Amino acid sequence: MTDCRTGRSARARNQRSCTKMENHLVENETAFYSKAEHYWKEVPPTVDGMLGGYGGISSIDINGSKKFLKNFLGEGQGKTGTGCALDCGAGIGRITKRLLLPLFRTVDLVDVTQEFLDKARTYLGEDGKRVENYFCCGLQDFQPQPERYDVIWIQWVIGHLTDSHLVEFLRRCRSGLRPNGLIVVKDNVAYEGVVPDEVDSSVCRDLNLLRRIVDRAGLSIVYEEQQENFPEEIYQVHTLALR
Ligand SMILES: C[S@@+](CC[C@H](N)C(=O)[O-])C[C@H]1O[C@@H](n2cnc3c(N)ncnc32)[C@H](O)[C@@H]1O
Repeated sequence: MTDCRTGRSARARNQRSCTKMENHLVENETAFYSKAEHYWKEVPPTVDGMLGGYGGISSIDINGSKKFLKNFLGEGQGKTGTGCALDCGAGIGRITKRLLLPLFRTVDLVDVTQEFLDKARTYLGEDGKRVENYFCCGLQDFQPQPERYDVIWIQWVIGHLTDSHLVEFLRRCRSGLRPNGLIVVKDNVAYEGVVPDEVDSSVCRDLNLLRRIVDRAGLSIVYEEQQENFPEEIYQVHTLALR
């Protein structure tokens, strides 16, 4: 129950937070990524696995995301289309199944763990037929097809990228957007600085650091919200809409 990005947070919160950028902590980039890959290979391909034993919060999470996203979708000037969405760090497709497939005509998934994408093919059921691509790739290397996506959803995965890789990835996502497209980042935020997690080889950044990364990527925060009704003991989770 304690070793996932959400469940781990109570312990992680008590760890020393570091105000330096995490690149100082991530001294060996290759090891940072390969440790994370090994960690996820051992995690069961279930909702509980995706949420570190906190599978019970999945519905609250999805309902919050649906409400958030519906502010942007629909007909009319400036509204985001509902043609194609990309689920980044998709895992078994928990978000694709309950948030993206009900709202978008087609969805692509990208994740570094092949076993999770294999599971997604059955987990997504009949609606999974509307998935066009399952990309097995680290986000640090992933290149979205230019102008393909109305929404790029990035949840509980940014801590697995170094600052500079995250900046570059967000820049590539920007090029992957259709007109009026939207990037959504939903993730844990630290109270102050950067909190490293040695167990899954990730970091948790505070909001100021995240905002600076967004700015470096040439994006603006058009809307920001804190997810409500999550358990007290876990990190705060914020949702940021970027353009
Ligand atoms: C906490 S799970 C979240 C899964 C999904 N976003 C959700 O909320 O249900 C983190 C996911 O990120 C994936 N992941 C870890 N490092 C990654 C990387 N560098 N690039 C792409 N995916 C990565 C893992 O395989 C895992 O599926």
